[in-house]
Amino acid sequence: MRLKGKNIILGITGSIAAYKAAMLLRLFIKEGAEVQVVITPAGKEFITPVTLSALSNKPVISEFFGANDGSWNSHVDLGLWADVMVIAPATASTLGKMANGIADNMLITTYLSAKCPVMVAPAMDLDMFAHPSTQRNISIIKEYGNIIVEPGEGELASGLEGKGRMEEPEKILEAVVHQLEVKKKLLNKSYLVTAGPTFEKIDPVRFIGNYSSGKMGYAIAEELAEQGAEVTLVSGPVSVSTTKPGIKVVKVESAEEMYTASVDCFSESDGAIMCAAVADFTPAKKEEQKTKRGKENWEIELTPTKDIAAELGKLKAEAQLLVGFALETNDEITNAQNKLQKKNLDFIVLNSLQDEGAGFGVDTNKITILEKGNKSTEFELKSKVDVAKDIVAKIIELNN
Ligand code: CTP
Repeated sequence: MRLKGKNIILGITGSIAAYKAAMLLRLFIKEGAEVQVVITPAGKEFITPVTLSALSNKPVISEFFGANDGSWNSHVDLGLWADVMVIAPATASTLGKMANGIADNMLITTYLSAKCPVMVAPAMDLDMFAHPSTQRNISIIKEYGNIIVEPGEGELASGLEGKGRMEEPEKILEAVVHQLEVKKKLLNKSYLVTAGPTFEKIDPVRFIGNYSSGKMGYAIAEELAEQGAEVTLVSGPVSVSTTKPGIKVVKVESAEEMYTASVDCFSESDGAIMCAAVADFTPAKKEEQKTKRGKENWEIELTPTKDIAAELGKLKAEAQLLVGFALETNDEITNAQNKLQKKNLDFIVLNSLQDEGAGFGVDTNKITILEKGNKSTEFELKSKVDVAKDIVAKIIELNN
């Protein structure tokens, strides 16, 4: 299942090779991908949408508007949804429209909106393929960054022999798998991420917790996995969740449990990102029974918890990377720099509660990354998903 969790747009155009697109579609599905077929009006002359929707388990898109209800097919949403767009077969006419932005069908508008890599498998007769016009269009779309899966040589539908037949579905599949892997910068790496709050039990019904939502830690775990890393996400009690392949979630409740789970897997990993808001104190005594209401004050004695980041800082090998967070309200830079040193971190991500839109609960964050040697980089206010990308980019930079 090499394409598990991947979204693919399969563009089909009007070529006799369209029947091979059905086989390619089956291969994508077998590898675990979700596939949306977009077919041109001419493509439908060669293969029926019924076949394709049955194989992909989704209605096939061809028109800008749904024929029955006038609903609008958003090429922009589709372009953002996909991890890769594969146009196979691509006719001479489609190559020309791609090269020149002639957006007269749903396939080309989707192509123009796609933010993902686009792979193109041309299919046509040998003379059409060899024509300077086709060759020029191919070189233009290569300049756009599109990847050409070169046609093979052999017998063509016209009966002629030569270069122009669409590459075999198995070969196109391999090219797609390869393309999705080279993009990834953390293949064969594994990371520990801690996320969320910890709950420190007072009695069977009460605890001391904090407002951490876990969103930042989960976003970092997902971005690490997106880059090909294996992630162990040690998570305190949160309402967010993840189903992304490559992430193993270990649920814990207390700081003590988070400590044990983290120390357990750290030696096997290439690094750790300590995103959790770990309680600094825990009740010295956990009551067995619920404490009853009374007239007197209730004093709870608290003892310090173990500092997980500092412990990993001591265990850290030369090649391992340790990243911490600091949520500060005052003297932000000085406090964060002290933590960087004291916990033996490679870098620390500072959030200041003085910045609007930063910190707990919200979907945005504003960070400064502080590294050893007083180097600091300030970032703008961004969504936590984009902040995670900045943090993972720093991890990738320090890995190299
Ligand atoms: N951290 C940890 N274990 C703890 C406390 C903190 O792993 N018991 C980690 C956090 O996940 C974070 C970093 O240490 O990456 C800094 O956390 P923070 O709470 O800001 O620092 P503290 O050392 O607890 O200092 P203080 O609360 O006094 O500011």
